[in-house]
Amino acid sequence: MKRSFQKQPNIVLIGFMGTGKSSVGKRLSSQLRMRYVDIDSIIEQDSQRLITDIFEEDGEDYFRKLESEAVNNVSNYDNHVISTGGGVVLRESNISRLKENGVVFCLTATPEEIFKRVSHHTHRPLLQTPDAMDTIRTMLSERKPYYEKADYMIHTTGRTFDEIISHIKGIFYRNALRRKSPDKK
Ligand code: S3P
Repeated sequence: MKRSFQKQPNIVLIGFMGTGKSSVGKRLSSQLRMRYVDIDSIIEQDSQRLITDIFEEDGEDYFRKLESEAVNNVSNYDNHVISTGGGVVLRESNISRLKENGVVFCLTATPEEIFKRVSHHTHRPLLQTPDAMDTIRTMLSERKPYYEKADYMIHTTGRTFDEIISHIKGIFYRNALRRKSPDKK
């Protein structure tokens, strides 16, 4: 990846539901002393509603609109770890905005692992289907080209948090060092 940043760059985590974006993001932010934000939490705080209720009452398109607004705001931040919802990739403009001042990492996991991880969290509106495993496989293959827009793919299945985090940290430092200093062209 050859991009240089004017400001202290963000770490942006994208990836399917249940790939560990929030858990990895919180650990990364505390280890790197960067601030942490989660797009889904911003949407819930700003609208004073749960994501499930937004989907149910106003539909997915409306949720995507709120999501893009939140992305637009956080893309102006610097030195943050930004965790996103699994569908943020569906609008290409979201990813280009996030890349303006961020290194984008896509966390991946096998469908079986995702199923295991999300089966305790029944709040996810898009997985409220009779066969969640089948839904996961279908959505993963539909979204694959979108997730591949990330700067880096990080496989999480069979890896510990420490391994995932040191992998991301190593890549991020190499990129952050490439930041333009004010007196250099
Ligand atoms: C979604 C993922 C969810 C949340 C919403 C839609 C998706 O976030 O944004 O339910 O389209 O994949 P998580 O990936 O944090 O579960």
